[in-house]
Amino acid sequence: MAARSLVLATRNPHKLREFRRLIEPAGIAVDALPDGTQLPPEDGNSFAENALPKARAAAAGAGRASIADDSGIEAAALGGAPGVRSARYPGEGASDQQNLDKLMREAPVGSPLRYVCALVYVDPAEEQEQLFCGYCDGRLAERPRGSRGFGYDPAFIPDESDGSRTMAELSDEEKDAISHRGEAARALLAWLEGR
Ligand code: IMP
Repeated sequence: MAARSLVLATRNPHKLREFRRLIEPAGIAVDALPDGTQLPPEDGNSFAENALPKARAAAAGAGRASIADDSGIEAAALGGAPGVRSARYPGEGASDQQNLDKLMREAPVGSPLRYVCALVYVDPAEEQEQLFCGYCDGRLAERPRGSRGFGYDPAFIPDESDGSRTMAELSDEEKDAISHRGEAARALLAWLEGR
């Protein structure tokens, strides 16, 4: 395995915490983005299109192997919205609560949802770029419940749990075992270990 540490290209403290939980037990430190590193705007049409420039910017800024995820939630009843606009569903600068409120207003209770994570690894030394994807299927809760996790978690009932608790009611271990981010991180670790 090459990298013993990775830079994570995010300003989202929830993502940093989750990636540390997922990756550090494998002996690879996940470091925050160095101060002053500029991240590009998220104006791509797919999660992968948004993740790649973020990982490249972090790798160029830090000069070492970096990862970036772009993630979000797709509602089948809304044709896949909010998708890549998940962090700013009602508009730029929206809070997690405003994003959640809009999804609750627009998607029918019980309708299918899917979390998606595109995770990109960039190693400037080896000119290597790799994409890993993870998914988590679920449905919309009748009302938000739970205080763990972040973002849309209080409204998301994962198919793979007991079918009643929201993602925000699961323990960290339970979320990591079934989440889109967990699936993508495990694919990254398997690939790193196989090199
Ligand atoms: P971005 O990847 O920085 O564009 O932001 C992704 C957005 O998708 C977050 O701000 C959340 O609204 C949502 N999101 C992504 N992953 C999760 C998750 O694990 N739980 C809840 N919301 C998530």
